[in-house]
Amino acid sequence: MKLVVEAKGALRGEITVPGDKSVSHRAAILGALAEGETVISGFLSGEDCLATVRCLRRLGVEIAVDGGDVRVKGAGLYGLAEPDDVLDCGNSGTTARLLLGVLAGQPFFSVLTGDASLRRRPMGRVTKPLQEMGASFCGRQGGNVLPLAVQGGSLSAINYRTPVASAQLKSAILLAGLFAEGETVITEPEKSRDHTERMLAAFGAQLNVSGNIVRLAGRPRLTGRAIAVPGDISSAAFFLVAAAIVPGSEVLVRNVGTNPTRTGILDVLRQMGARVDLLHPRSFGGEPVADLMVRPGKLRGVEIGGPLVPRLIDELPVLAVAALFADGRTVVRDARELRVKETDRIAAIAEELAKIGGAVTPTEDGFIIEGGRRLAGGTADSRHDHRMAMALAVAGLRADAPVCIDNAECVNVSFPNFAATLAGLQG
Ligand code: S3P
Repeated sequence: MKLVVEAKGALRGEITVPGDKSVSHRAAILGALAEGETVISGFLSGEDCLATVRCLRRLGVEIAVDGGDVRVKGAGLYGLAEPDDVLDCGNSGTTARLLLGVLAGQPFFSVLTGDASLRRRPMGRVTKPLQEMGASFCGRQGGNVLPLAVQGGSLSAINYRTPVASAQLKSAILLAGLFAEGETVITEPEKSRDHTERMLAAFGAQLNVSGNIVRLAGRPRLTGRAIAVPGDISSAAFFLVAAAIVPGSEVLVRNVGTNPTRTGILDVLRQMGARVDLLHPRSFGGEPVADLMVRPGKLRGVEIGGPLVPRLIDELPVLAVAALFADGRTVVRDARELRVKETDRIAAIAEELAKIGGAVTPTEDGFIIEGGRRLAGGTADSRHDHRMAMALAVAGLRADAPVCIDNAECVNVSFPNFAATLAGLQG
């Protein structure tokens, strides 16, 4: 599919965005491991989370999906069944890594695979600690990539220092820790998103979080519950940046998750000079939520690095677009993780934005943008990466000629209604 976006002036109006992808995956997985029913509202029924649902069904869990309303019949910690076929995680790194943690604790054999992009992404960071806990993995490249065969078993708790700030890695260890005897302790180099910790506590697990250290007591009793999933700030980000770069805009995104481990985008947009207001802050089952109002400002370049990076890692493609329209230089560093996302996002940002007239210098662990110039427009490729497709679409809102995005069907991974939502704001 091709998506064509052209500048039509100010964006004005109110929107909602689909449910948070990270929270939706976790709600389905913890619902499956809990006793009793879990009723989820606002579930993201995009490709990634549906892959998680399909895998859980293959593990014997009954799940009814009706748009954003999902009912999970919990199998209990020890109620999953050996799958009779390969578990296909599609494009979803979260599905693969979190399920590796669950499967590590199962007394059966399973095989996980995914699409071409996911089969290139590193799994060794996850299988290494899970092996230390007692699970066995077998796969290409010494077990670093999918397809991976998993023989789970009886696990022991570990005390593990993660080499990267990755919530998928932390969550895989925590999920395996549910099946381990004793206390699992994880220390991260920077704090990554903490949805798993919050949701585990809500389901009844005993957790202790202190700074970047998480402690989880093994073999808890998890009880099913109702979960309302907030809107995904990573999906809202495309419209927040759009409103910040198109003169005269005023966009209100209602019901967005504002967990502080995710709000780096708000800090950076403010620092760049956009007007960002957080309205009606409230709480949704352990997760903070607010309505976000954004208006443009005279944007200036910023420096992004250190602990801020995990708080906005998925927003860097669209922040690169904001930087193109900001005066001065934007420097992103400490973001090497971008190289192992759905595609190498450092290369994709530099090369695809160049095709539409943007000057981006890639670096080993980020990129540098000299902003404040006009953007010509033209044709670029999503590289089958949903966030690249949507970031390029946002660039089209201020380019001199339309931006045509090839291979744009991947937006369905996280934001099935993206094109219509954008068109609605263009009036
Ligand atoms: C996610 C964690 C992040 C993020 C991804 C979703 C999660 O990945 O980029 O989109 O739900 O835990 P890493 O764990 O690789 O940092």
